[in-house]
Amino acid sequence: MRKSMAEEMREKDADRAAFLKRYESVYGKDATAKEVARGKRGEAALENYAAELIAARATRTSRILFVPDTHRPLHDERAWQLMLSAARGWKPDTIVILGDFADFASVSSHAKGDPRKRLDMEQELASVLVGLDELDALGATKRVYCSGNHEHRLRRTLGDKVPELYHSLTAAKMFKLAERGWEHSEYGETYRLGKLNITHDLGEAGQYAHMRAAATFGGCAVIGHVHSMGLSVVGNVKGERHVSASFGWLGSEKAGAAYMTRAKMRRNWTTGFGTGHMEANGTVHLQAHPIIANRVMVDGVLYDGSSNRKAA
Ligand SMILES: [Fe+2]
Ligand SMILES: [Fe+2]
Repeated sequence: MRKSMAEEMREKDADRAAFLKRYESVYGKDATAKEVARGKRGEAALENYAAELIAARATRTSRILFVPDTHRPLHDERAWQLMLSAARGWKPDTIVILGDFADFASVSSHAKGDPRKRLDMEQELASVLVGLDELDALGATKRVYCSGNHEHRLRRTLGDKVPELYHSLTAAKMFKLAERGWEHSEYGETYRLGKLNITHDLGEAGQYAHMRAAATFGGCAVIGHVHSMGLSVVGNVKGERHVSASFGWLGSEKAGAAYMTRAKMRRNWTTGFGTGHMEANGTVHLQAHPIIANRVMVDGVLYDGSSNRKAA
């Protein structure tokens, strides 16, 4: 007959210590764990905790933070700081940038007279590096930067004029992504994370683009680019379910002014971000987080941007 966890722990004192250590890593050093450690709880209670621990390990998921189009330095700093504060509380294992993290308005060839073009390249680069530093500080072990059409714009505009520069103008080289420990997925490529297909865009816009992306991949998909927020589930005749999502954006209205009227922008685009829980088998459970009145909820915890802390 299989020995119970409590019996095994009784046999070896060290195992009990190891169990308590593992318990604490999963549940935190709460009062109950401390009581167990001090021997104030009986073996039955310990056995329950062991069962909880085993169940928790079986359903333990890896946490993914999706950072949508930020268009730095024309980002929404208040929304950005709220996302960071939520991420500090939620502690992602993986961070994925969905493209257009940099705006590169200074090299834009369209929208003549666009006030954004007063920015210089140095300011833009500095802002991107600050943003990457802030994401690095979250301590995620895996970090992926998917380039968007705005990162590609720099390459296209300057690389066409000075072809020798073409290969130096990738986000990977400019932002020293490898040195920072980031993986890079070039614009137009698809990054696979578990069963998820991630790319900035598939050449389509509009609020249903994420659904069309799932149809194109024949699988689950997350896209950037559209700045709208949507999460859909579509089935097929094989009985499969494909989840697709776009997670809004973190840009300011200044960044959108070149493309859209303010009224249309406010109607179609949503400020926010996304998260996912990935199971060991690669299935990712996605969640969209709109920022509403400077507040956002992640896994049942409300974060309040006005005080920049967890709301009571
Ligand atoms: Fe964008
Ligand atoms: Fe884009």
